[in-house]
Amino acid sequence: MALIDAATLAEKLAEPRALTAVGASLVAAPAPGSTTAWLAWWSGADDELAEVVAQARDWGAARLVAGGPPGNYVESGVDAGDAARVAALRAAGFATTGEHLDLRVCTEVAPVTVAGVSVARCAENLDAVAAAFGAGWAWEAARARGHGGLFAAHADEGAWLGFGAHSGNLAHRGTFGPIGVLPAARGRGVGAALATAVFADLRARGFAEATVPWVAEATAAFYAGLVTIAARTRRLTMALRLSTGS
Ligand SMILES: CC(C)(COP(=O)(O)OP(=O)(O)OC[C@H]1O[C@@H](n2cnc3c(N)ncnc32)[C@H](O)[C@@H]1OP(=O)(O)O)[C@@H](O)C(=O)NCCC(=O)NCCS
Repeated sequence: MALIDAATLAEKLAEPRALTAVGASLVAAPAPGSTTAWLAWWSGADDELAEVVAQARDWGAARLVAGGPPGNYVESGVDAGDAARVAALRAAGFATTGEHLDLRVCTEVAPVTVAGVSVARCAENLDAVAAAFGAGWAWEAARARGHGGLFAAHADEGAWLGFGAHSGNLAHRGTFGPIGVLPAARGRGVGAALATAVFADLRARGFAEATVPWVAEATAAFYAGLVTIAARTRRLTMALRLSTGS
């Protein structure tokens, strides 16, 4: 049986987005307006998986996704290298619907600066993050802010350009993200300035390495240009359809 460490469990069971424990497994109800429930952690016990599926159906979910949920995740997806777990989920009816990378990186960075742009630790409200990148990232950024791990980029004339964060999830493990730059401000180093500030702050807190989860294959190049990538873990999005007739 695979158990979650105590620090992670405490973070995942904390309000306001507490996950629901089913034995040693964790499940998330669909967010308002969504019909996707999340198998945030599966202990590996078949009877618990059946209970989680029953719970998801009770919530009216149309599908159950292994990994996540975004904003309060234990894992970004199923480790593609864990053949036994992938096979067990397939046998239970889960199908792979996507894949991405988790990067393990060295946090040693050379700071990047951009003329006319300042990057600073941020305590302001998160309306700009919500408006540009959605409520999920704003919530994750708010939890990062609670750990002092939120940075914002502003143009010298005051315009907000983007944000970068750490410790919004899995704070005790050294976890980067999310990061976002307004589309109109991309391609001139703002993302690099934010990311290097975030990595430097993680390093200052004693994290010689950090995880950058949920990275699209193409976006890995952005990080590879800033930090040394020690390991890449392929993660699968695996989903079980629950709707009748599927
Ligand atoms: C990813 C993101 C933060 C980059 O911000 P940015 O300000 O455009 O990045 P920069 O201008 O600092 O780019 C730095 C370098 O990374 C490269 N790069 C930037 N975005 C990239 C991407 N999506 N994929 C690959 N390389 C990228 C740039 O070409 C540049 O390379 P160079 O130094 O050789 O010229 C921005 O595109 C964004 O907000 N994307 C949407 C949200 C997102 O995907 N976040 C990351 C989730 S893991």
